[in-house]
Amino acid sequence: MNHFINLKDIKTKDLRKIILDAKKRKNLRKTLNTLEVDKGSPLKGKILVQMFEKPSLRTRLSFYLAIKQLGGGTITLRSNELHLGQGGESIADTAKILSTYGDGFMLRTDDDEKVENFKKYLSIPVINGLSPSSHPTQVLSDIFTVEEIKKKSISNLDICWIGDSNNVLNSLIAASVKFSFNLRIGCPKKFKPNLDVLDWVKKNKKKIYIYEDPKKAALNADVIFSDKVISLNDKVNKKKKLKEFKNFKIDKKLFSYAKKDCIFLHCLPRGNEVTDEIFLGKRSCVWQQALNRVHVQKSILLYCFGKLR
Ligand code: CP
Ligand code: NVA
Repeated sequence: MNHFINLKDIKTKDLRKIILDAKKRKNLRKTLNTLEVDKGSPLKGKILVQMFEKPSLRTRLSFYLAIKQLGGGTITLRSNELHLGQGGESIADTAKILSTYGDGFMLRTDDDEKVENFKKYLSIPVINGLSPSSHPTQVLSDIFTVEEIKKKSISNLDICWIGDSNNVLNSLIAASVKFSFNLRIGCPKKFKPNLDVLDWVKKNKKKIYIYEDPKKAALNADVIFSDKVISLNDKVNKKKKLKEFKNFKIDKKLFSYAKKDCIFLHCLPRGNEVTDEIFLGKRSCVWQQALNRVHVQKSILLYCFGKLR
């Protein structure tokens, strides 16, 4: 069994294996309907318990479809309906029960320590479905999407992020080390990635490039990523932060600094960090990106259950 908590802690070899498996499975399903099960039903009889402490549309639905297409099932819990959130039951006891009833546990939380605590007490795999510091399932799926569209290894591409230094960017930074790609970040000085993230990059002998001028970050990019300026866990003065990002909005002008065939990706939900013209335009691949989460998460589940071929 394997946990899937942070990309930086997973071997590149395994991340590559997950992407390859997802590619094969996606190809094999071309003529199947949404709820039809993959040949061999590799997770037949297994149940994934999903728990959300924060809202979710895509992660919830994509994990539901992912385990269904592998022959298993899922149940979704909201933490405020459990004793853990309301009656003071310990994580250790909750984890014991989850391990007794369930086969895997997917958690979206606003507390990184909680993921680690669940890992400590669970005897089933835990998947991080977004925490304040990372969003690993999203970013691994995004690597898959980039390579699917560009038809080449991401290590041969220039990747740009324009926006806040949040959980999604942290995972993209981890991916840039694991998959060896060029990453240029455009963000206001005050909102650069945390020092511990930058130190980890340095320790791994990799460089990322940070610019206060978004045009420099976008220059010659093959892919431009963005995300909301205000994340779900952001406890900031929202009006002030949005103002500080005023010059980082992705519009036609900024996009024109990138390569001609540059694509736009965004994990959704969106705010006003990107114009409709770009988000809904012909270079945007956000809907394909969202759907690919089903395919990649299937292979993540197989990795977690020790069933990745
Ligand atoms: N991208 C993403 O994780 O979306 P949800 O918050 O809707 O799950
Ligand atoms: N950075 C965003 C991602 C949402 C999927 C957030 O944490 O709210």
